[in-house]
Amino acid sequence: MARKLVSCTVNGTKRHYHIDVRASLSDMLRNEEGLDSIKHGCDVGECGACTVLIDGKPFNSCIYLAIWAEGKSILTVEGLNDVKTGISDIQQAFIDAGAVQCGFCTPGFIMASIPIIESDKPASRDEIRRQVAGNLCRCTGYEKIVDAIEKTQKKRIAERKSSS
Ligand code: FES
Ligand code: FES
Repeated sequence: MARKLVSCTVNGTKRHYHIDVRASLSDMLRNEEGLDSIKHGCDVGECGACTVLIDGKPFNSCIYLAIWAEGKSILTVEGLNDVKTGISDIQQAFIDAGAVQCGFCTPGFIMASIPIIESDKPASRDEIRRQVAGNLCRCTGYEKIVDAIEKTQKKRIAERKSSS
C-alpha cells in the first residue's frame, strides 16, 4: 500500500506521519496520537462526532483524507484544555448545562461551536442551531447544547470587552 509523509500541526505541536494514502484524518489522529475525543459515529460525514478544526474551520475528519492535512493546523478537544483549570470554559459549560449525557457527540459539538464562541458577533439561538446542524445527538434534545454554547459565547464576548 502507498504511504506518504504528512507534516502538520496538531494541538499546537508540529507532527510528521508516514501514513497510508487512504487513511482518514480521524484514523490518523486516533491511531497515531491517541486523540480519542474524535469519535467514529457514522464514518460517512453524517453525524459530526468526528469534528475537528482544520485551520480554524470545523470538518468531519472521517471524510477528510489524512494526506490533505499537509501543512495544516488541527485542533481537537484535547487541545482546548486550560492550563489553570485543566478544562476549557466550553467543556465546563456543557457539564453545567446538562448538555452531556452519554457524551459520544460532545467533542464534536464542542469543536463545531468554537467558531461561534470565538466570534465577536453574537449568534442567536437559531444561528447556533444552524451552525451545529451537522452534529447529531441522540440524548439531550439539543436545547441544553444550545444553552451551553450561548452561555460560553456571552462569557467570551464579555471577557474580550473587559480586557480591551
Ligand atoms: S463519524 Fe464523521 S461525520 Fe459521523
Ligand atoms: S449526549 Fe449522547 S449522543 Fe449526545
